Amino acid sequence: MPLLSEAGTLDAAGIEAWLREADEKRLEHLWEAADRVRSERVGEAVHLRGLVEVSNYCVRSCAYCGIAACAGPLPRYRLSHEEILACAREARRYGFGTVVLQSGEDPGLTRRFISDVVAEIHHDLGLAITLSLGERDDEDLKAWREAGADRYLLRFETTDPALYAAIHPGLPGKVSDRIAQLVRMREMGYEVGTGVMVGIPGQTWATLARDIDTFRQFDMDMIGIGPYLPDPRTPLAGPLGTQLQAPPGEQVPNDEVTTLKAVALTRLVCPDTNIPSTTALSILDPGGGRRNGLTRGANVVMPNLTPPHYRQLYRIYPGKAAVHESVETLTENVLGLIAALGRTVGKGPGGREKRVT
Ligand code: 5AD
Repeated sequence: MPLLSEAGTLDAAGIEAWLREADEKRLEHLWEAADRVRSERVGEAVHLRGLVEVSNYCVRSCAYCGIAACAGPLPRYRLSHEEILACAREARRYGFGTVVLQSGEDPGLTRRFISDVVAEIHHDLGLAITLSLGERDDEDLKAWREAGADRYLLRFETTDPALYAAIHPGLPGKVSDRIAQLVRMREMGYEVGTGVMVGIPGQTWATLARDIDTFRQFDMDMIGIGPYLPDPRTPLAGPLGTQLQAPPGEQVPNDEVTTLKAVALTRLVCPDTNIPSTTALSILDPGGGRRNGLTRGANVVMPNLTPPHYRQLYRIYPGKAAVHESVETLTENVLGLIAALGRTVGKGPGGREKRVT
C-alpha cells in the first residue's frame, strides 16, 4: 500500500489498492490526508456555483440518464433568454461568483442563443460562466468562449472504451471523443472539468483507478464525482446493466464510501483542482453526503437555481426532482454547513488557482 505522505507518487495500481481498501481504520488515513491536502492546496473557501438547468431536451441516448432521448415520455422544456438571465441575477443576489448553465445535448440551444446569453451575463452581471451543454462543435465552443464563457464541464464517464461505447450509443456521422473535446477546449482557453459516476455496471476497480489517474494525467481543472443512481426508466437499470455487470469482486459498488474514496483519491492526485461535493452524493445520503464530500476532499457546492417547475423535469436520476429545497433553504443549509465545518464561503469567480508549493 503506497504511503499517503507520498501521494504525488500514487499510480493507478496504488489508487486501485486504496479504492479496494475496506478497513475503516486505514481509511481514516485516507480521509485525513485528503482533507489536509485540500486545506493546504485550495484552502478553507467553499466556492458556490449557481446551477441553471437550461434545457432538458437531449438528442443522445446515454443508457443511464433519465433525460436521454430514449428515457420514456417526459415533458421537455427550454428556458428563454430572459428566464436564464433571471436565474443569473439570483446567483448574483446570493453572492455566488459563478453561474453554471447545464442542459441535455440540445441543438435547439443554438450558437447564437447561448452566445447572447453568455455575453449578457458576462457584461451585465460580471459572473464567471461555466457551460455544461454536452458534446458540441468547435465553432460553437469557440463562439461561446469569445462571448465570455470561462469554463466547460464534460464528464468522460469512463476510460474503458468498450464500456463507454456500450452506454453511449453514437449519433450518425458523429464521433464521440470527450477527452479530445476537453483537450481542444483547453486550447481555446477554457478551464475544463470532467468526471465520472461511481458504480456504473461494468466499472471495475481497475477502470475507476485508471479514470482517476486520467484526471491527473490531463491535469483537469474541475472534477465531479457522484454515485451512479439507477433510474428504472433507463436501459442501464435493466437487462443492459445485468449484462454489463463485472464479475463479483471486480464490480465497483455505487455506494457512499466508494464515492468518497474516489473523491479523496482525486484530491490527492489532483491537489489544486476544484472538486464539488455533488448533488448525487447528497441524494444518496441526505443526512450527511454533502458534509462528507466537503470533509474528504471537496471544495465546491452547486446550489440549484432552476425554477422549481422546470427542475422537476430535469431528472437525470431518481430523487433529483425530489430536491424540493428552495434555493433559499438550500443556500441557508449550505452556509450553515460551511460555518459548522469552520470553512469560509469562497469570494469572487473561484477559478482554479495553481499555488506554488
Ligand atoms: N446517476 C448518477 N449520475 C448521473 N448522471 C447522469 N445520469 C446519472 C445517474 N443515473 C451524471 C452523468 C452526467 C452528469 C451531468 O450527471 O455523469 O455527466
